[in-house]
Amino acid sequence: MVRQPIIAGNWKMYKTPSEAVEFVRRLQEASAGVDNVEIVVAPPFPALVPVAGVLAGSFIGLAAQNMFWEAEGAFTGEVSPVMLAEIGCRYVILGHSERRQYFGETDANVNRKAWAALDRGLVPIVCVGESLDEREAGRTEKVVTAQIQGCLAGLPADAVAGLVIAYEPVWAIGTGRTASPADAQEVSARIRALVAELFGREAADRVRIQYGGSVKPENTRALISQPDIDGALVGGASLKVESFAGIIRETG
Ligand code: G3P
Repeated sequence: MVRQPIIAGNWKMYKTPSEAVEFVRRLQEASAGVDNVEIVVAPPFPALVPVAGVLAGSFIGLAAQNMFWEAEGAFTGEVSPVMLAEIGCRYVILGHSERRQYFGETDANVNRKAWAALDRGLVPIVCVGESLDEREAGRTEKVVTAQIQGCLAGLPADAVAGLVIAYEPVWAIGTGRTASPADAQEVSARIRALVAELFGREAADRVRIQYGGSVKPENTRALISQPDIDGALVGGASLKVESFAGIIRETG
């Protein structure tokens, strides 16, 4: 099964709308000609509309970093899947470890959001990953298994096939400490095997699994060449056109 690699830039709470627009203009030039890699950017909410305007008809896809599960209502401060779909988002990142750590995101919430996103035609990028304590206690597989089971509970197999799962070990995020390609592959293979158990072989063969955690141009190729790693969810290195385009080129 050939899965198209997907490189997504999670900008977190960086870049104003004008900075974001300038960035994607330059990224379009810098990544022109790389046609075998799907490229996605996830700007903060205020930048989504202007960036969508620049990216209309472009090969670069747009993602939101979070959403709520209701279509509308009295939910101050929240953004709905209907709104994201209307402005041209194709993806939405769900369950990022920073949302789990600072904003009380749970697997059950991620599951509700995943259902709502799929219902509106958005593709969830579902984030999972263990903390340093959990890894050192030998609990990585247990933790990631529970996250996958909770986040994907009850989803139809064909929807799971179209998802992106981002394996982001928390200890590797923003620390400069990358999981070794072998460790990242081991967990990614375990995730794919679990998807096969829960949703069938076809969904497992088709679902794309990204690695995230201190990805940069220098370590991209070794990670991406692992059989069960189909791309990267990039934080810090996605904030500069040179390094993000470098990661994209190393993938292509
Ligand atoms: O979602 C991407 C992320 O959390 C990884 O961040 O800065 O380690 O690439 P970074």
